Amino acid sequence: ASKGRLVIAVDGPAASGKGTLARRLAAHYAMPYLDTGLLYRMVARAVLEAGHDIRDAEAAGAIVSTFDESAFAEDSLRGREIGEAASVVAAMPAVRSGLIARQRRFAAQSGGAVLDGRDIGTVICPQARAKLFVTATPEVRAARRHKELAGRGEAATFEGILADIRRRDARDSGRSDAPLKAADDAVILDTSALTIEEAVAKAIAIVDARRAG
Ligand code: DC
Repeated sequence: ASKGRLVIAVDGPAASGKGTLARRLAAHYAMPYLDTGLLYRMVARAVLEAGHDIRDAEAAGAIVSTFDESAFAEDSLRGREIGEAASVVAAMPAVRSGLIARQRRFAAQSGGAVLDGRDIGTVICPQARAKLFVTATPEVRAARRHKELAGRGEAATFEGILADIRRRDARDSGRSDAPLKAADDAVILDTSALTIEEAVAKAIAIVDARRAG
């Protein structure tokens, strides 16, 4: 990795804490942040709103080239069902390829950028100077998601959420196009036993080491 623009790629499974970490890194380094999961969530929402079956790859492929990002309120995309639907459309090659250009444009901003997702370090920004792969055990992730959903007023049992997480892990890791996996040059950050502040401090230390190196 060379000197110059700093791009930070943050990947990891659902509810690993990657979004919180990416947001905090963006604030720390004063860089713009893109949550790429929202793009897949928007496509899923648009497919469903148009009345298509969520497994209809042809419909999803047509929608991805035309959908209007400003038409969706972020809060309406954060729910459990839409995350599941996003994971389904995210396995479709036409959807993934249709979203590549806007993600790369975001990453190319002159001041650098922070992106989080599943394939930022492997596919979207393979040249990123700093790559973090954020993980936690499925049980820890389910507990965090359970708390977050309860805060949003969404009723769900811990067991139901754990089952969701395992299913999404299997789908996101098992797909043939850009599966969830750590880039060879990513640093693995397991947040299972860390508080948010501890995880943020470690993430900053990892990025600073990459900036200096
Ligand atoms: O990060 P998230 O939970 O908001 O992502 C929702 C789904 O979108 C996730 O299950 C897989 C997919 N996704 C992806 O395939 N690639 C990304 N870069 C981001 C999300």
